Amino acid sequence: MSVLNASIADFYSDTQTLPSKAMLESVLNVVTGDERQGACPTTNALCERVADLFGMEDAVFLPSGTMCNQIAIAVHTSPGDEIICARESHIVFAECGGLAKLSGAMVSVIDCDRGVFSAHDVRRLCRPPSSFSPRSQLLVTEQTLNLGGGAVWPADQLAEVSGLAKELGLSVHMDGARVLNASVATGVPVSTYATHHDSAWLAFSKGLGCPVGAVLTGSRDFIRDAWHFKRMFGGAMRQTGVLTAMCLYALDHHVERLVEDHLRAAKIAKGLQGCELFSRIYPVETNIVLAEIDSECGVLASTLRDFLGQMGVKIMAVGVNRIRMITHRDVDDAGVLLLMNGIEAFLSNKMAT
Ligand SMILES: Cc1ncc(COP(=O)(O)O)c(C=O)c1O
Repeated sequence: MSVLNASIADFYSDTQTLPSKAMLESVLNVVTGDERQGACPTTNALCERVADLFGMEDAVFLPSGTMCNQIAIAVHTSPGDEIICARESHIVFAECGGLAKLSGAMVSVIDCDRGVFSAHDVRRLCRPPSSFSPRSQLLVTEQTLNLGGGAVWPADQLAEVSGLAKELGLSVHMDGARVLNASVATGVPVSTYATHHDSAWLAFSKGLGCPVGAVLTGSRDFIRDAWHFKRMFGGAMRQTGVLTAMCLYALDHHVERLVEDHLRAAKIAKGLQGCELFSRIYPVETNIVLAEIDSECGVLASTLRDFLGQMGVKIMAVGVNRIRMITHRDVDDAGVLLLMNGIEAFLSNKMAT
């Protein structure tokens, strides 16, 4: 639990975690310097460590995951190029159309269950070179899939998809915001998931519990180009050691415990099974629970969210008929109980009206 005043029932997102006392203390004796001049030993150490984790040559520290994605897109594409990805990818639904504004790119989306697609889908959408069509240039994968309910790409399927993309001449980028959740859940090393990828990143401000930060990895040439856009997009900072010390702390102390989040998410999903309100509880593989409200019930996701909110339980409404709950280090079993009681109270209330 954090030192600060975290709600025990905030399932809105794992981004809601607050830094622990020990994490904050890790900053006190930090050795830092100007990261733009390569003079922050702590940031350099973090970048080296994350590059090793992914099996990449180099890495760069960035303030957010969105910036990792947008910089990777800027490096890999030219205006007019097409990106292939799942319809429910974060770069499509939650980055304000940045790929179009910042890089002039367009997208060709794959409709697939839980965001996991096949090599056949990539072959189908990749355009052959022609004098009139856009250039298919980049494939983006997401591990785990946020709007896929934390679905994990099986390593062999991911390698097949990314391997084919390389054969077809595409660059391949991984939005690995929660790749450590996948790795902890399956035992598959992060570097295996990164096979055939040209760039990949992981978030520190989600399950790892840091307030800020993400690290983007790739080849030396890719990271040199990424630095160009880091400065252009305003992501170049100064004494980042005060942030990256917490990220190093998280790598040492907050990775193995992700399994606790996964167990709690499974517990929530089990508790929702059989509840007449829901037509589908997505399979839980990591720390995300996604549930579809039965259209017969005539209940909007936002109505359920607001009701739970009044009971001190925060969840996310995804569109009109899905709710998302994410477990993390600042929710415990008491929070899960509060959530379950809240849903039961909603049902009783609905019956009574
Ligand atoms: C899969 C995925 N990618 C990217 C991001 C963006 O990260 P940030 O909020 O650090 O910009 C998120 C945020 O939740 C995410 O879930």
